Formats: sequence, C-alpha cells, structure tokens
Amino acid sequence: MSSEPVLVARDLTRYYEVSRGAFRDSATLKALDGTSFTVERGKTLAVVGESGCGKSTLARLVTMIETPTSGSLRISGNEIAGASKETLRALRSKVQIVFQNPYGSLNPRQRIGHALEEPLLVNTNLSAKERSEKARAMMASVGLRPEHYERYPHMFSGGQRQRIAIARALMLDPDILVLDEPVSALDVSIQAQVLNLIAEIQERLNLAFLFISHDLSVVRHIANDVMVMYLGRAVEYGTRDDIFRNPQHPYTRALLSATPMADPERKRERIVLKGELPSPLNPPSGCAFNPRCPLAFDLCRVNRPELLAHEASLVACHAVNKPEAAPKAA
Ligand SMILES: Nc1ncnc2c1ncn2[C@@H]1O[C@H](COP(=O)(O)OP(=O)(O)OP(=O)(O)O)[C@@H](O)[C@H]1O
Ligand code: SF4
Ligand SMILES: [Mg+2]
Repeated sequence: MSSEPVLVARDLTRYYEVSRGAFRDSATLKALDGTSFTVERGKTLAVVGESGCGKSTLARLVTMIETPTSGSLRISGNEIAGASKETLRALRSKVQIVFQNPYGSLNPRQRIGHALEEPLLVNTNLSAKERSEKARAMMASVGLRPEHYERYPHMFSGGQRQRIAIARALMLDPDILVLDEPVSALDVSIQAQVLNLIAEIQERLNLAFLFISHDLSVVRHIANDVMVMYLGRAVEYGTRDDIFRNPQHPYTRALLSATPMADPERKRERIVLKGELPSPLNPPSGCAFNPRCPLAFDLCRVNRPELLAHEASLVACHAVNKPEAAPKAA
C-alpha cells in the first residue's frame, strides 16, 4: 500500500478572468496563486485567513467542483490534472464537502432520510432497504434521532442541520472531508458540540480533514497543522502548536492577537493592522502584505518572499528569513 498522504497539492493555482466594464480589458484575478500542502489520513489541516484570501477556491479545487489553472493535485494517489472522466468520477465520491450553511444544500421538500439516501441511489447499487438502513445508522452516529428520518430541513435547528450535512457527506465513505466554515453560522455553545462531533468522526473513521475557517479560536480545537493564507498565498504553514505558541509571520501574529483565547501562558498585545485588505485584482507588489505590515522595509515592496523553512514552520517573510536585510529595531 502506498504511504503517500491522501491529499497532496503542489503549486496549485486558480485564476479567474473578470470583466472590468464595457471599455476595459478583462483582468486576471489570482484567487489561488501557488499553494502546496499535504494532509494525511486521520489528520486535519486548517486553512485560515481573511475573507477573500482563497479558502473556498481551494475547497472547490480539492472537491473537484473546479479544475486548477495549474499545479498538481493528488487525491488518494491519483493525479487530478489530465485524469479520465472515470477516475474523476470515482475520486469525487472520495472527497466530500460540508458548507457553512447546510440549508442551502438541502432540498426543503425532501425528507432527511431521503436526502441521506440520495448519494447512495446515484452512486451505488444498494437496495432501498440497504440504503434506508445505512441512512438510519448514519443518523444515529451523528446524534440524530430515528424519528428525524421523516422530517424536513426547516424542522431542524442550525446545529442539527449541520449534523445532517455531515451525515450526508459521510454516506459514500469518503477519504477526505472538506469543511468550509462548518461552524461559523452557529451559536458558540452549539459550535462546541458540532466540533466535538467532527473530532469524534475523524477518530472513528480515520478521515483526512481540510478545515477552512477565518476563526483561529475554532481552528485551535481541531487542527493538527495550520496554513495561514493572505491574498491567495500561504504566508505561514506549520503544526498547530508551533503556529499558536510561536507564530513567525507578522500577519499570523496580527490574526492571533485579535483572537480571544484563554491563554494562561502569555498575554498577547493586540496588533491592529493598518488599512484594508487590498483588491486581489491589483495586489501590492513584492510582499502582498507590505502596505499593512508593521515590519515592512524596502525589500518588501519589490521582492516577493518565498515560503521557506524557519524554525519548525514554513514562513514567507523577509524580516523572518533575511533578518540581516531588515532595518534594526530602534
Ligand atoms: N468565480 C469567480 N470569479 C471571479 N472571482 C472569483 C470567483 N470565485 C472567487 N473569486 C474571487 O477569488 C478570491 C478568493 O475568493 P474565495 O471565495 O476563495 O475567498 P474566501 O477566502 O473563501 O473568502 P470568505 O472568507 O469570504 O469565504 C476573491 O477575491 C473572490 O472575489
Ligand atoms: S516580507 Fe516584509 S512586508 Fe511581508 S510580512 Fe515580512 S516584513 Fe512584512
Ligand atoms: Mg469562503
């Protein structure tokens, strides 16, 4: 058996051509601009960053809803680029997604039991009885009661609907679950319950999770590794413990400083970022973070930093990777 991680992305890009109005040329929006990562079975990679940094674009590539503009994506040992229709079809059932708002993906006129059975109807030869048994067993395993089988989506709370979405995603026995802000729309008390369920499922089924969130306090509970993104690129990538205990990139530090967390080890000083997130249609030259970075110096405005090993993590920052070039602190 291959020891290759179940999900391997190398230099993945996704560009969109966007119209800029009747009298102007279209422009290229680099939603994802060269991202590499791996996820092993039983592990969770959390992808974090502000709105528009490319998280959902990444989710659409990994779930094969969209194809990459370039780069390599290997799922369960199979390269997606140039794969046959049959391979893609087989792999699609191996990667399932749970969205922030499950209501949008549930048919309001379909009973929950039937919504769970639908993927089996489309993708397997199981009999009606077998489908029903599997749906009922799955409902029990995500904390839904037998009588819920006959109910409609509007009869459930937000937390229950997210349990239904998770159950549906598991019906085809996937290898990889992509969770795109799965608890962001839920009350904090419910968030913890759904996160516990997600963690329990991972342990039970040994799945690989790509967990997308803008909320570091949520990520801390669930991640093994963390990739911090800014305008389509990873700026820091490391284990959860390294990222939370010893963040290197100024952007990671700012995000962490703005995250309320009970941290007895140290009190963090709040770092307030200046300015707005720049338009991805016209990103700043050099390091895209430079207009907002408290450490920016001349090199940052002309030269884009690569993601390089620093201590235990990978970091894309000149002040971290070339400290000799940075101005000395006063
Ligand atoms: N189909 C598309 N056509 C053009 N631009 C797009 C398309 N999809 C996404 N984008 C742009 O790509 C960038 C990344 O979008 P994406 O949805 O991946 O961000 P995100 O990190 O998921 O944000 P959020 O936290 O708001 O969900 C954004 O600037 C977005 O406007
Ligand atoms: S490369 Fe420069 S601008 Fe970018 S994060 Fe590092 S110090 Fe800041
Ligand atoms: Mg998104």
